[in-house]
Amino acid sequence: MPDTPEAPERIIAPVPRITIQAFCEAPETAAMIEGVASDRRLQKAHVKVQMGGGAAAVEAYRHAPTPNVILIEFVALKSRPLECLDQLAEVCDEGTKVLVIGHVNDVLLYRQFIQRGVSEYLMAPVAAVDLIAAVSDLFTAPGAKPVGRTIAVYGARGGSGSSTVAHNLAWTVAREHGTATVIADLDIAFGTASLNFNQDPPQGIAEAVFAPERLDSNLLDRLLSKCADNLALLSAPATLDRTVDLTEPAFDALIDLLRLAVPCIVLDVPHHWSAWSRRVLIGADEILIVASPDLASLRNVKNLLALLQQQRPNDAQARVLLNGVGVPKRPEIAAAEFAKALDVPLQAVIPFEPALFGTAANNGQMIAEVQAGAKPAEIFSELAAAVTGRAEIRRARANLLEPLLARLTRKKAS
Ligand SMILES: Nc1ncnc2c1ncn2[C@@H]1O[C@H](COP(=O)(O)OP(=O)(O)OP(=O)(O)O)[C@@H](O)[C@H]1O
Ligand SMILES: [Mg+2]
Repeated sequence: MPDTPEAPERIIAPVPRITIQAFCEAPETAAMIEGVASDRRLQKAHVKVQMGGGAAAVEAYRHAPTPNVILIEFVALKSRPLECLDQLAEVCDEGTKVLVIGHVNDVLLYRQFIQRGVSEYLMAPVAAVDLIAAVSDLFTAPGAKPVGRTIAVYGARGGSGSSTVAHNLAWTVAREHGTATVIADLDIAFGTASLNFNQDPPQGIAEAVFAPERLDSNLLDRLLSKCADNLALLSAPATLDRTVDLTEPAFDALIDLLRLAVPCIVLDVPHHWSAWSRRVLIGADEILIVASPDLASLRNVKNLLALLQQQRPNDAQARVLLNGVGVPKRPEIAAAEFAKALDVPLQAVIPFEPALFGTAANNGQMIAEVQAGAKPAEIFSELAAAVTGRAEIRRARANLLEPLLARLTRKKAS
């Protein structure tokens, strides 16, 4: 196997926190990719290697979401590479990139791969450094989009459970989708993320926000504390040593940096109304408003939806969920009434379960860790699929071919 080290003039940028899944046919290729996984530029990536080639990939993603990169090896035409790619195209989530390692040197076949939306065809035997460069180029080439999607979670009123929802949602995305996820606790003075994950990191979001001139990807890496597989936390110091008077763009640099490095960023936004919190909400890819079934929440959600719609005319409406429904003896606005008054469907209705939520909070655990089959745990699974775009994409069966066809048509036209 050729393994030319990186030439001095060849700079390969580190890849962001993506997931790469490889399906090999030759043991040598599998071994090469296993080796690549520990390369410094793939340090943040999560690499999984298995055998079975294209057929195994098709089987694997029939019912599971696709990762950021799928790597498929075809040793010979008898593995039916084109058929496999066509089947894969039917189940591929938007944004998933496919790289092919092939053993057949044939221009026509190469063209057919590219026509099917394959990002790159690498001839075996592939040098480790060429594979790293190919993956890196997908995410760091000029014009490549940042990988991160931000999800802001905001309470319609204080204590509505927005942090609890944000943390359980992030944990579920990391666990069930295998997507690298970061929770950023923006409640600098009172944040609960570190308590809810039973963590005590020495540094966190305050260092990033109060010393923006020092903020870069190295510092960010040091500030993140790992709290589960694929899940890291940017915790709030939760001290009153200093007051928190932030400028409007206070979180801009941090969020931009996170976007470049992490596929899913859950922003636990405290229930404040300030220039910066308004800006964080308006700038998020997805907004989830957590409301209680009462009049004040209803009024606040109505105002928030109106403002957000006006400020984000080209975006989908913020999602609204009701939390803590069914407190004994408490008069509540029924979910159907709440939705009707807002004229939007509710994303979810989470019951009031004090024993379950209280145990989770006291133990520093997530709901599914306390009781895996509990109704709220199922709701968090559905919510994770919805806010990460999985539910919609699965339904629409995004086609691998579309981006490539669009590119080709544009090229022809120009
Ligand atoms: N569905 C629920 N049933 C019972 N208790 C709940 C539920 N959801 C949240 N809680 C509890 O309510 C309390 C407040 O939750 P949380 O801290 O998430 O609210 P918040 O909206 O983030 O509050 P703040 O406005 O202070 O940021 C916590 O003790 C949490 O365990
Ligand atoms: Mg909170």
